[in-house]
Amino acid sequence: MKLLVTGGAGFIGSNFVLYMAEKYPHYEIINIDALTYAGNLENLKSVEQHPNYRFVKADITDRSSLEALFAEGVDVVANFAAESHVDRSILEPDVFVKTNVLGTQTLLELAKQYGVTKFVQVSTDEVYGTLGETGLFTEETPLAANSPYSASKAGADLLVRAYHETFGLPVNITRCSNNYGPYQFPEKLIPLMIDNALQDKPLPVYGDGLNVRDWLYVEDHCSAIDLVIHKGVNGEVYNVGGRNERTNIHVVKTILAELGKPESLITYVKDRLGHDRRYAIDADKIRNELGWSPQHDYESGIRKTIQWYLDNREWMEGVLSGGYKDYFEKQYGER
Ligand code: NAD
Ligand code: DAU
Repeated sequence: MKLLVTGGAGFIGSNFVLYMAEKYPHYEIINIDALTYAGNLENLKSVEQHPNYRFVKADITDRSSLEALFAEGVDVVANFAAESHVDRSILEPDVFVKTNVLGTQTLLELAKQYGVTKFVQVSTDEVYGTLGETGLFTEETPLAANSPYSASKAGADLLVRAYHETFGLPVNITRCSNNYGPYQFPEKLIPLMIDNALQDKPLPVYGDGLNVRDWLYVEDHCSAIDLVIHKGVNGEVYNVGGRNERTNIHVVKTILAELGKPESLITYVKDRLGHDRRYAIDADKIRNELGWSPQHDYESGIRKTIQWYLDNREWMEGVLSGGYKDYFEKQYGER
């Protein structure tokens, strides 16, 4: 199989490349990534010498630079490439529309033209909007995106659907809940809080800290996408989540306790604009129809993750330089 992974230098994409290269060493894996602030080839060091792995720097919105790759013959596209951070989408929405909507449409067009046999769109539970205190998102929940990020992902999802309905492109959409684990960029809640705690810096908790996210260890997301690639029924959407709902303040307190740091580091700050209150995923469809089950519960996953960041301080230091620093200063002030 020739597998084209987009965004494979980012958090989930790099975990996915590592997972697939180990599980299917005979597959040819081509990783294309524009290497934005979020892309980091350090994540892929252990696969660099793999004979069936190749990295190509390319932007998914640039059709001409992708054409030759598709012309070589691609069986499966797994589209992870995206602008992924909600806070950034509030500051600068334009690039979210460009990459997430236009980039996805560019890939769909190439997939159609060159006859790929599967196009998997890695989407998010955020396209469903927000939940109240009860209930779960199912695949039938109407799309009601609330942030520029989630609106751009919802736009991409509809284009993926349209290419299936109109042109018969063999597609799937996965909608996963919040991921955590190794190589996550420290703009996201868990690595940001771990890093700040290690440096005895304030931990900025938005609003009242009672917003709820449904956490999934990244490797369990990778195994779900693997299953969808191999067994997903064309045209279907699959929700992915492990029923690990936690309030943000609970997550932050767990991190402080694990690191032996005081709760006095917690600092409540101004809430995120349009902050979705609660996400929770019903993943019965992928469990029952494709046989997926996550291997990590929240307690073991968060401990493993904290340990990874403790063991990989150099990775964090590397990431905290360059372009990211500019954003960090804009968002949080001088560090
Ligand atoms: P990330 O920001 O860590 O990585 C995104 C990657 O895409 C980076 O390597 C970046 O360089 C690359 N990229 C950005 N723009 C590009 C472009 N124009 N062309 C080519 N490459 C480009 O994101 P992530 O957290 O790994 O998320 C990956 C995907 O999974 C996204 O589509 C996101 O919407 C989705 N998702 C994320 C989560 C989560 O909790 N992080 C949950 C569900 C779904
Ligand atoms: O649900 C899936 C989504 O999860 C993905 O589609 C997104 O790509 C991914 O970024 C993530 O979005 P969230 O907005 O939920 O993740 P984030 O880590 O930014 O924030 C998690 C929660 O923590 C959210 O309620 C906001 C809050 N938060 C976040 C940061 C960065 C804080 O309280 N303080 C912070 O400093």
